[in-house]
Order: sequence, then C-alpha cells, then structure tokens
Amino acid sequence: MSVKLRPVRSADADTIWRIFHQVVAAGDSYVFATATSRADAEQYFLMPGITTFVPEADGEVAGFYKLIPNRRDRGAHVANASFMVDPTSAGRGIGYALGRHCLEQARLRGYLALQFNFVVSTHARAVALWQRLRFAILAAVPRAFRHATLGDVDAFVMYRSLEDLPSPPAMTTFGERASGYSWVPRPSAYAIVSDEGDRIALVSTPRGTFLPGGGIDPGEWAEITAVRETREECALDIRTTWFVGRALDLVVDEEEGQGFEKVSTFVAADIVGRAAVEPQMDHVTIWAASVEDAARRLTRQGHIWAVKEWQRARASWPETTTFER
Ligand SMILES: CC(C)(COP(=O)(O)OP(=O)(O)OC[C@H]1O[C@@H](n2cnc3c(N)ncnc32)[C@H](O)[C@@H]1OP(=O)(O)O)[C@@H](O)C(=O)NCCC(=O)NCCS
Repeated sequence: MSVKLRPVRSADADTIWRIFHQVVAAGDSYVFATATSRADAEQYFLMPGITTFVPEADGEVAGFYKLIPNRRDRGAHVANASFMVDPTSAGRGIGYALGRHCLEQARLRGYLALQFNFVVSTHARAVALWQRLRFAILAAVPRAFRHATLGDVDAFVMYRSLEDLPSPPAMTTFGERASGYSWVPRPSAYAIVSDEGDRIALVSTPRGTFLPGGGIDPGEWAEITAVRETREECALDIRTTWFVGRALDLVVDEEEGQGFEKVSTFVAADIVGRAAVEPQMDHVTIWAASVEDAARRLTRQGHIWAVKEWQRARASWPETTTFER
C-alpha cells in the first residue's frame, strides 16, 4: 500500500489526540493512564523540537511517530521512537511504513542505533513488527507493565543498529584551520524558517548575518536548540520539520583568540506564531526574499550551503513513499 509521510502540522493536533486517547484507553501497549490529559499527550508527541511524522492513508492522518535521542548528551547518538497507529487502520501496513521511515530518518540524522525501552511483551503485533524490521530483544524487564486485562507482564528492551543502512551524506567543511589558534568543537543548530511567501528569516547581528540558531546547550538536541534560539533571536515560535543536513564551519573569534569548529545541524521549520518575548537587543530579524537573497546576505559559508541544500532538498523530500509488505 502507499503511505504518504510528512512532518506533523499544528492542524493535526485533534486527530493525534483522538488516536492517542484510543490507544492508551486499551491499556495494552503504553504506560499512559486512560485519564492522561491532552496537554500531557501533546507535551509527549508534539512539543516543538520533537521530530514527529504522520502517515496519510487515503487522505487521512492514520497515526504518528516521534523520533528523539534516547538519552541526553553522551547517550544522544542512540535514538528512541514511539509509534501509534489509529486502531481503525491497524493491520494495513501503516506501522511497517512508519517503522521503515523512522529508521531512514534516524540514519539520516546520524544516529548509530535505535532503541525501544519499553515494548509490552504481550503486544504480539508490535513485537512481530519490530522483529520484522530487524530489532533484537535485548532484555525482558520482569512484570514492568500493568496490563489492563492480563495483570503485570514483561516489557522488552529492543535494539537495532542502523549501520547496515545507507550512510548519511558526508559533512562538508568550510573555512581553513588558521594556525596560531587553538580549536574547540562547538556543536550548533540552526533553523531555516520560511514564511508563507517563502521568505527566509535571517538574524542580523554586529558579528554578521546568520540563520537563527546557536550552540547546543547540555541536555538539548539540535531541534530543541533551533526552537529556543529562534524564539530568543526572532521572537518566533517554530515547529521543526525536515532535517536539511550538517556542515562544519571553521570560525575564528578574534576577540577570544579562539578557533571554533562549528559542527552545525540545519533543520527546516514552519512558523507557529509570534512568541511573547522581546528579541535580543542587538539581533534584528530580516526576511530574505529568496534563497539567492539569503545567500548574498549570510556571513558563513555553511549557512549559505544550508539554504541552497534546503531549496534543493525541498524538491525531492520523500513525502510519498510506497512500502512493499
Ligand atoms: C504496533 C502498531 C504500531 C502496529 O501498527 P499496524 O499498522 O497495525 O502494523 P502493520 O499493519 O504494519 O503490521 C504489523 C505486523 O504485525 C503482524 N500482526 C498483526 N497482528 C498480529 C498479531 N496478533 N500477532 C502477530 N503479528 C501480528 C502483521 O501481520 C504485520 O506483519 P506483516 O507485515 O509481516 O504482515 C499498532 O498496532 C499500534 O499503534 N499499537 C498501539 C501502540 C503501540 O503498541 N505502539 C508501539 C509501541 S512499541
């Protein structure tokens, strides 16, 4: 069957809540109580910065999955994901399509493996699906899940390396490692925020013009950083959508006498609304009319590469994927 996968939109929230509530009410797959509030459900699946995709089957949103790091910082190279398919669409291959898409997206983002921490052992459909996608059961946590009808049952930890999947594109380096400076890595994340007129948000600062974004703080991952920085710099709330790519900018900070290896992750984003914050004093948001206009204004080569890559990738984002069963 053919399933179209796309990033979640704000307008999907009602459907997601309906599916979430139906799935958790069954009490056979997720730890959430039946009475879990919509706010809690949205915090879990729709918080800006969480990567969530939805499948459209016959024009209807029939489920969703989210992809995040399994652990923070030193554990963030292993991914974790959560899936829900509309019970009325179960058994049509949608779970399989989500699983396949999730594996591809995780690999593209540079994760080394995907780990599920809590697969209910008695949920035969889920276990069979993950095994078919080559996940191994690492361990059974005894009686960890209070099943609605079966009592306390085991939960599986399931794991799959991603190293057999096609490698993500190699990272391009911009700039030179000038001598006389010490060089420190600075993982960073930037958003390519486009409005309805396809204009691109840029931030003009005394140091140059950049995409909204900055250094990834401890406990953050790229999408979270992009959301936070865009709020701080542009007073815009965004929802991150597609992963655009990574580039390395070698940047010298003359004031600090320091070289920075800016390993920058670029993500596309939609605007959710204006944020009720004052943008930073010396940061002015400007809107580039086109990719060419943005490229003329941007200071760093990696950012220029990213907006061009964004334009190129937009034409080929695999929104429609046919998964053979
Ligand atoms: C698990 C879930 C995502 C599967 O989605 P789905 O769209 O129904 O899955 P698919 O139609 O792709 O089929 C999954 C596979 O399980 C098989 N299957 C179906 N019912 C089964 C059962 N009772 N026992 C064993 N295998 C079963 C299907 O035949 C299919 O395998 P196949 O492709 O080799 O034929 C969905 O049931 C769901 O959302 N469950 C509730 C939430 C959940 O458990 N999420 C996952 C948490 S780890």
